[in-house]
Amino acid sequence: MAKKLWSGRYSKATDSMVDRYSESVSFDCRLAPYDIAGSVAHAKMLAKCGIISSQEKDQIVRGLREILKEIEAGTFVFDPALEDVHMNVEGALTKRIGPAGEKLHTARSRNDQVALDTRLYLREQVAVIIGLIAELQKAMLKLAEKHKGSIIPGYTHMQHAQPVLFAHHMLAYIEMFERDKARLTESLPRINVLPLGSCALAGTGLPIDRQAVAKELGFAAVSRNSMDAVADRDFVLEFLGSAAIIGMHLSRLSEELILWAGTEFKMIDIDESFCTGSSIMPQKKNPDVAELTRGKTGRLYGNLVSVLVMMKGLPLAYNRDMQEDKEPLFDSVDTVAGALSVMAAMVAHVEVKEHKRIRFDGDFSYATDLAEYLVAKGVPFRKAHAIVGRLVGDCAGKAVEIYHLDLQTLKSYAPEFEKDVHAICDIDSCVRAKKSFGGTAPANVEKELRAWKTKLGSKA
Ligand code: ARG
Repeated sequence: MAKKLWSGRYSKATDSMVDRYSESVSFDCRLAPYDIAGSVAHAKMLAKCGIISSQEKDQIVRGLREILKEIEAGTFVFDPALEDVHMNVEGALTKRIGPAGEKLHTARSRNDQVALDTRLYLREQVAVIIGLIAELQKAMLKLAEKHKGSIIPGYTHMQHAQPVLFAHHMLAYIEMFERDKARLTESLPRINVLPLGSCALAGTGLPIDRQAVAKELGFAAVSRNSMDAVADRDFVLEFLGSAAIIGMHLSRLSEELILWAGTEFKMIDIDESFCTGSSIMPQKKNPDVAELTRGKTGRLYGNLVSVLVMMKGLPLAYNRDMQEDKEPLFDSVDTVAGALSVMAAMVAHVEVKEHKRIRFDGDFSYATDLAEYLVAKGVPFRKAHAIVGRLVGDCAGKAVEIYHLDLQTLKSYAPEFEKDVHAICDIDSCVRAKKSFGGTAPANVEKELRAWKTKLGSKA
C-alpha cells in the first residue's frame, strides 16, 4: 500500500475502512487534467519567483505531461490509498522524477488545489452546456418553422383557453432556454477566479505571484480572501441551481411532448427511433426519452439540495464535508448535458399532425375574441365578459356554437352585435388578431422566427 504523503506524524497505518470511506479518487479522477494544468502553472510560477530552480520546474512539467498522457491513454493506475486525484498525481510525479516532485506542493494546499480544479473543470463544462442549449434551441426553431401554419389550443388549467400558433408555443421554450444560457454566462465571472495560493486557509509566507498563475490559467480574477477562497462553494451551488432550472424547463417540455404524443391528444408523432416498446403489449410506442428527462430532473433538484444542506453548517474554512460536492456536481453536469443532447435529437424527430377544427369544437376558445369585439363596439369589458358568458352558458352542452346563432338571436344578448360577428369566431382570425407585442399573431411569430434564426445562427 502506498505511503500517505501526510503521514509524517503518524506511526500507525490508516484503518482500511477509513481508506475506503474517505477516498475520492474513484470519482475526482475526472479532475486529473485540470489538476495537472494547475500544477504546471504553479510550478512555472514557483520557478519564476525563485522558489524552485528552472531545472526542477522543467522536470516537474515534463513529468506531469507524461502522467497526463498515461491518464488519457487509460494506463495510469489511480490508488485509492492515496485518497484523491491530487495525491495520486503528486505521488506519481515524485515516484517518477524524485526530489523535484517533492517541491511541487510548496505554497499550496489541497484545499486551494481542489477549489482550483473544480473551477477549471466547471468553467469548461459551463461553456459546453451553453452550446448544447443552443443546439436544442435550434432544433426547436426548426420544428417551429416547419409547422409555422399549425394552430393548437393554448391551455390554462389544462383546459382549452385560446388558440395559438404551435410555433409560438415552441418560441416560449426558446425564450426559457435563452434565459438558462444567460444564467450560465452570467455565472462565469464568479467561477473564473483563481483560488490557488490561498494555501490551507491563511495564505503563505513564501514570495509567490498569484497574478502570474491567474494569467497562465486564463483566470479573469484572483480571489481576495484566502479563507473565502478555500471555503466557498457558491460557484458550485450556482451551477447546480442553474442546472435545476434547466431541468425544470426540460421537464415541462418533456411533459408536453408526452401529453401531445398521447392517445387522447394525438397531436404530435415522435419518430420510432426515439420511442421504445413494451415487453408485453405489442402495440406500444412509448415516449421514454421524454419521460426519463422528466424523471432525471429529480436528481438535478436533489443535487442542489444535497450540496446546500452539506454546506449550511460548515464553519470556515475547509472541512472534509466539502468533498461531498463532487458527485452531485459531476452528476448534474452529466445529467444536464445528456438530457440536452438527447432532447435536441428527439425534437428533430417530432412531427406535428394537422388536426385543427375538431380540436376546437365546443371549446368556445373564441369567447375572449367575442368579448373584445364588443369592447371595440363600446361595451365595457366586464359587461362584454358577462354577455359572452351568458352566450356560452346557453350554447354549452347543446353541441351549438355561438357562431351557429343568427344575428337576431345574438342581438337579443347585445344590440352591439353586427353581421361581422360570425367571422370573429373563426380560429384563424382569433390567432391573427393577437397583434399585441409578444402575441401569437402570425406576423409577430414570423418576425420572432426570423430574429431567432439570426440570433442562433441557424440555417433552419
Ligand atoms: N478530496 C478532497 C476534496 O475533494 C480534497 C481536499 C482535501 N483536503 C484536506 N485537507 N483533506 O475536498
